[in-house]
Amino acid sequence: MTHLGYRCYAKVNLTLEVLRRRDDGYHDLASLVHTISLADGLHMESANTLSSHIEGLDITAESNLVTRAAHVLASTANLSPQVELRLVKRIPAAAGLGGGSSDAATALVGLNRLWGTRLATSDLARLAATLGSDVPFFIDGGAALMTARGEHLEILPPLSGQWLILVTPPHAVAAKTAQLYSALEPTDFSSGAATERAALRLRQRLPLSEEHLFNVFTRAARHVFPGLADAWTAAERICARRFFLSGAGPALFALAVDRADAHRQQTSLAQLGLPAFAARTVRHARTAIRLRPTPPSGTLKRDPRALCLVVQW
Ligand code: C5P
Repeated sequence: MTHLGYRCYAKVNLTLEVLRRRDDGYHDLASLVHTISLADGLHMESANTLSSHIEGLDITAESNLVTRAAHVLASTANLSPQVELRLVKRIPAAAGLGGGSSDAATALVGLNRLWGTRLATSDLARLAATLGSDVPFFIDGGAALMTARGEHLEILPPLSGQWLILVTPPHAVAAKTAQLYSALEPTDFSSGAATERAALRLRQRLPLSEEHLFNVFTRAARHVFPGLADAWTAAERICARRFFLSGAGPALFALAVDRADAHRQQTSLAQLGLPAFAARTVRHARTAIRLRPTPPSGTLKRDPRALCLVVQW
């Protein structure tokens, strides 16, 4: 095998509670997290050296997590990292949607196949935790109850086809996750009961409604991200429903009734200049993009829709 291509899915935090600050500077959290259909594309091809190419929106250092993932896997397996990585960004970076983490987990899973390193899922999850707190979740994706620093995961029955409306206000706040955590006050901390309630709904295979959603950063994010409070108010007025932060923000999401509702609201938000997406919940962290075998004299052309290489006969 010399080629692999994947769609790497984003996530939303349906709930996100912080329980306490820890001695190591991190925080213990409780979060109900779910992968959604908004995706980056990650293409890997065997090569003699390691190179990475990043295309698309919102390129930041976060995107380079795929390169770090390649180095971490290669050094664990005692290999020299030989691969050409091509990342096509569609998930807005540093938005709270986990795009960089999803790309990194897919790099670990994909390179484990491409290089034949045969690390067990538990070993990949351990490497993932060294790359970021929510990277382990993206080894499998779907729905999970996330606790501790983010690395303890209880897999839950996923919500099937829950449509969402996403709003992703742009921002330029450096190290925003660390800033948001340090802006928390003890009164923002909670017990994890809201997350347990929402997780119970999934265990019982029941849908969620607005009353089940919660995010600890709701107060702090309005101060840290300039313009977020106005975008939030506008989104709630236009779509006539509540919006919730995902992760440390500034991405916001709301529950949609169905696909048509999600697309209608996305159009209305976009008309007012708010970057918006319609997405639905998905059961996995990634799907493989099928590649046809390269013919000896074939030429390769990029297909931006499929986010992969297709063979032109
Ligand atoms: O692990 P990750 O690189 O995503 O974390 C970014 C920052 O977010 C950390 O440096 C830390 O300040 C904060 N964080 C935290 N508690 C967590 C996860 C992240 O305080 N559980």
